[in-house]
Amino acid sequence: MKANHFYVTTPIYYVNDVPHIGHAYTTMLADVLARYHRLLDMPTFFLTGTDEHGQKVHNAASEAGITAQEQADRTVVRFLEAWKKLGIAYDDFIRTTEKRHTAVVQDILKDLYDRDEIYRGEYEGWYCVSEERFYTEKELVDGKSPEGKPVERIVEVNYFFRMGNYQEWLIDYIDKHPEFIQPDFRRNETLGFLKKPLGDLCISRPKTRLPWGIDLPWDSDYVCYVWFDALVNYISAVGYLRDDDQFNRWWPASYHLIGKDILTTHTVYWPTMLKAMGIALPQTIFAHGWWLVGGEKMSKSVGNVTDPMEIMDLYGIDALRYYLMAEMTLGQDATFTEGKFIKRYNSDLANDLGNLVSRVLKMIARNAGGAIPRPGEAGDAENELRAQTLGAVEAMEEHLRGMSLDRGIGRAIDAVRAANRYFDQMQPWKLAREGDTERLGTVLYNSAECLRIVSGLLYPVIPTKMTELRRSLGLRDDEIEPHLASLREWGGLEPGRVLGSVQALFPRIEKPKEAKPGAAAVPKPKEKKMPTEEPEAEIIDIDTFAKVQLKIAKILRAERVPKADRLLRMDITLGDEERQIVAGIAEHYAPEDLVGKSIVVVANLKKAKLRGLESHGMLLAASGAGKVRLLTLDEELPPGSSVS
Ligand code: MSP
Repeated sequence: MKANHFYVTTPIYYVNDVPHIGHAYTTMLADVLARYHRLLDMPTFFLTGTDEHGQKVHNAASEAGITAQEQADRTVVRFLEAWKKLGIAYDDFIRTTEKRHTAVVQDILKDLYDRDEIYRGEYEGWYCVSEERFYTEKELVDGKSPEGKPVERIVEVNYFFRMGNYQEWLIDYIDKHPEFIQPDFRRNETLGFLKKPLGDLCISRPKTRLPWGIDLPWDSDYVCYVWFDALVNYISAVGYLRDDDQFNRWWPASYHLIGKDILTTHTVYWPTMLKAMGIALPQTIFAHGWWLVGGEKMSKSVGNVTDPMEIMDLYGIDALRYYLMAEMTLGQDATFTEGKFIKRYNSDLANDLGNLVSRVLKMIARNAGGAIPRPGEAGDAENELRAQTLGAVEAMEEHLRGMSLDRGIGRAIDAVRAANRYFDQMQPWKLAREGDTERLGTVLYNSAECLRIVSGLLYPVIPTKMTELRRSLGLRDDEIEPHLASLREWGGLEPGRVLGSVQALFPRIEKPKEAKPGAAAVPKPKEKKMPTEEPEAEIIDIDTFAKVQLKIAKILRAERVPKADRLLRMDITLGDEERQIVAGIAEHYAPEDLVGKSIVVVANLKKAKLRGLESHGMLLAASGAGKVRLLTLDEELPPGSSVS
């Protein structure tokens, strides 16, 4: 990749169909990547558009009883509207019926024809209308295309691009440039495809069969094959053959983002076309997986599409953007259901981020005069929160390079969870009550600073909500769009800044807003209690308390629980009985310091499972001033002794 620019493209979408989640996904992904690169101060160009020629569009127009151009003009509006509503900030939108594109395609065709890269020949074979592809006899499966689509026999004179000549070169290029096709398993798929002899590519359609396309400059009885026309959009949009400065500025593209359904056209047709034109290849072609519904690809022909507009109108743009970006592991398929969407929204956005925002801002409003307080000296807990948060920034940059956005987002949410834990442990409501203004200021400052950084980190994914949040944190207009550099350092929030208005950023979704068949079962995550004040204690009578059996236990063994930073597993004895308990004290005690200690446990508590480990009983500990200490005896008593 040219280190000094970022040029990202989406496939250009056919105008036979209105936009659905699948299209929205690729476009959003490009938008998010472009936004991150802008935050890195990298010159960025984001191109999307529509593919307006070819059989599919022609057929859709015939069915609707309108001309193909009318079909294109009507449908393109739907895409433009959708992208506007979804907050897609593209730099250019290209339509393949625009002169700036058609003229370049014709120049390319003419040049290739003049140089005998394109020749006239007779074609006989099988043609699949819905895929707009020819197949050889051998490629058919049960008389249909390998995708199971109907094919028809065709004999005709056509024009061919000498693609077969480039087979060895392409294999060699792919071998030498592992970054060219990503993820790796897609590269192997293309290399597998290239093991069979690569034929020449039929790049024309006789007008008698398909009148809708770009005329071949030397034979007006033919139009150009839609893929040979469409792929050129990636260079015609940035000035190829028209504006050398612009072209040299952006080409080669950093990423062509595509769905896995169009891998061959992008990793075989396109590179060989570019090679014949004498142009450098794009840095990376990245194929993502499909959004599935009930195990099937979401597509108009299957009739299982979810209208992104509908989800967005019901739950908001950012909720949809967040879900699509956080849910899909790039490269893999993912399943879309309204229930899953709501579950993730409630857990990450409403519970974790939304609650942190509301408790921190509310407490600053109530206890610090509505302005960012001055922090006192940082202790271990503050240093840990800082490390977690800055670690998330580093991780995001790394995951951007590795195209594992979902993991970068996950780390940002982990930092939010750490801040919520910090807030719980520090109990700022107690500090306020005790009048410990300095500690209170420290806790509120550090929690708000975590929010400043996380809001910047998530800004490219959920720009609308993060703009609101950053305003609430008192950031000025020119600070709303963050520079990644400003997120790499702790302490950017200026004490004294007055907070903006506070509102519920992500209200919980209690049930699907529209009862759809099959959408009824919304998994209900347990609502987490996130106090901003000390929870009020219920008054109980002595009989209720007497039900709790407290006993002295001795710790026999203790060890950390793998992959659970906060948990320790312990074997304890109650004198006549050994038990296992699991407790969340690993951040406060080393296992070796616990062995031999006499502690107090609730002995008659129902068994519970923590991370798959049974816990039979609960130990008692006190928390305060950022510490957690176990209740112990001031003189040794035998295990099993009762506590009352
Ligand atoms: N016009 C061609 C692309 C030409 S690019 C030079 C085309 N268009 S399309 O309208 O069919 O859109 C295909 C793209 O939409 C896919 O490659 C993918 O990026 C996206 N998706 C369509 N359905 C999808 C899913 N169900 N899931 C994820 N993305 C999918 O092919």
